[in-house]
Amino acid sequence: MITIENVNKVYETKTSRVVGVDDVSLEIKKGEIYGIVGYSGAGKSTLLRCMNILERPTSGKIFIDEVDLLSLSNKELRKARQSIGMIFQGFFLTSSKTVFDNVAFALKAAGVPKSERKDRVLELLDLVGLGDKANQYPAKLSGGQKQRVSIARALANNPKVLLCDEATSALDPSTTKSILALLKKINKEFGITIVIITHEMEVVKEICDKCAVMQDGQVIEQGSSYEIFANPTKPLTKQFIQTVLNFELPEQLLESCQGTLVQLQFRGSIAGDPVVSDVLQKFPVQGNILHGKVEYIKDTPLGIFIMELLGDQQDVNNAIDYLQQRLKQVEVIQHA
Ligand SMILES: Nc1ncnc2c1ncn2[C@@H]1O[C@H](COP(=O)(O)OP(=O)(O)O)[C@@H](O)[C@H]1O
Ligand SMILES: [Mg+2]
Repeated sequence: MITIENVNKVYETKTSRVVGVDDVSLEIKKGEIYGIVGYSGAGKSTLLRCMNILERPTSGKIFIDEVDLLSLSNKELRKARQSIGMIFQGFFLTSSKTVFDNVAFALKAAGVPKSERKDRVLELLDLVGLGDKANQYPAKLSGGQKQRVSIARALANNPKVLLCDEATSALDPSTTKSILALLKKINKEFGITIVIITHEMEVVKEICDKCAVMQDGQVIEQGSSYEIFANPTKPLTKQFIQTVLNFELPEQLLESCQGTLVQLQFRGSIAGDPVVSDVLQKFPVQGNILHGKVEYIKDTPLGIFIMELLGDQQDVNNAIDYLQQRLKQVEVIQHA
């Protein structure tokens, strides 16, 4: 659906040369919700703006539905952009226009006749839950409502792709949840491919099927969100995952702990897999669960538990080997 091939973007002035995007290749499939994560300055916005050629890559190629966007004339590109909606952290609504007119303007710009605009705008406002706000001005709306208007506007011309640049970063956590739920619904009902840029791993956890992590203009890690959460390989990715799966044990608990501490990872539902009771039956060791949590990565559970194992060291080691065979991801975090 969206193919990014060896894209580079260099900002060059007489006195400086800044690499915004450094040789990025990504494949985003139709109907996916794809997250791009990274700290400020990593190149996320630049990459997103390259996807609809708001920013012309210095080199590389961008295909949407197999159309090479860089080969299009300006007129063809304007047309192609109608199938790529975009929303931003700052909403960019026109304050002198009502909610209705903000959305209608996108239809007007695309040449939709006036007679057809009204029904379509009302349909879009209903979709985003603002059916009763058509005649309000943006200043009267909350941040979440403003983002809903900008989503309605972005969807006006039935895009195939929706690009979101930090769309929830200015919103409080509960409003963020409701906007993410709306994006999920749009993705499901209309099959729109969504690309979401964010510095919040929570957003990826909530709705992204896949994600890429960016640092210094490069994609350093990419894959299914679940795999990235379960098995991050790069230090930066681990840092981001930590913000969601924070597993620090209190210092005094670590100090008072006599046994070997192991961190166990359960993929999928743990209900059907009595591995903890099995290990305690098979080996003469004692086990205490000290800490644990189950996170849902886009609806699939990922459980992490910290267990203290007590007993003869050889038995404890055998128990850990057994756990490793059963669970794959078992890590000793403190020796006895
Ligand atoms: N128009 C521009 N001119 C010069 N440098 C830019 C421009 N836009 C972005 N940059 C630089 O490119 C790098 C990536 O920026 P950006 O894509 O905005 O990162 P992010 O969205 O991840 O915060 C940064 O170093 C930034 O300063
Ligand atoms: Mg940005």
